[in-house]
Amino acid sequence: MKVAIGADHGGFILKQAIAEQLSQLGYGVVDCGAEALNPGDDYPDFARAVGEALLRGEAERGILICGSGVGASIAASKMRGVRAAVCHDTYSAHQGVEHDNMNVLCLGARVIGDEVAKELVRAFMGATFAGEERFRRRLDKVLEIEKQATGNVPEQSRRIAPM
Ligand code: RB5
Repeated sequence: MKVAIGADHGGFILKQAIAEQLSQLGYGVVDCGAEALNPGDDYPDFARAVGEALLRGEAERGILICGSGVGASIAASKMRGVRAAVCHDTYSAHQGVEHDNMNVLCLGARVIGDEVAKELVRAFMGATFAGEERFRRRLDKVLEIEKQATGNVPEQSRRIAPM
């Protein structure tokens, strides 16, 4: 299986360790940047790159790392077909795949250490979607929300959360 991995400056150092871990575990790694530590870079650029790698079929799963994991998960989940979540406990890291078909794991390098991150990656990568009827039904409902939410609606977004 191939894994697309991306990180902004908040996650750059951890990205190197996780890319190495994935290779050691036998996964193909598609590095979506950042290529260097740049304090001025922006997490949505890497969330987009990882999401697009998945949508192009270059990888089956993604891992995004920023300072908290939050920005990366918000940005990545805007993309059709991307189901990204921050998981800092191993239960969520595997259950998110088994029940919700999560395909992108987001990590916060300022929140967790390298070894916890590696355990989370193992839990995420070792899990598969359980595919039971209730999980498919819920996923279909999520996809229905995604279908309705497409289009350019910046004004609506501003009303929900003023910017
Ligand atoms: C970057 O300084 C930081 O804001 C970003 O990595 C992330 O934590 C956003 O959620």
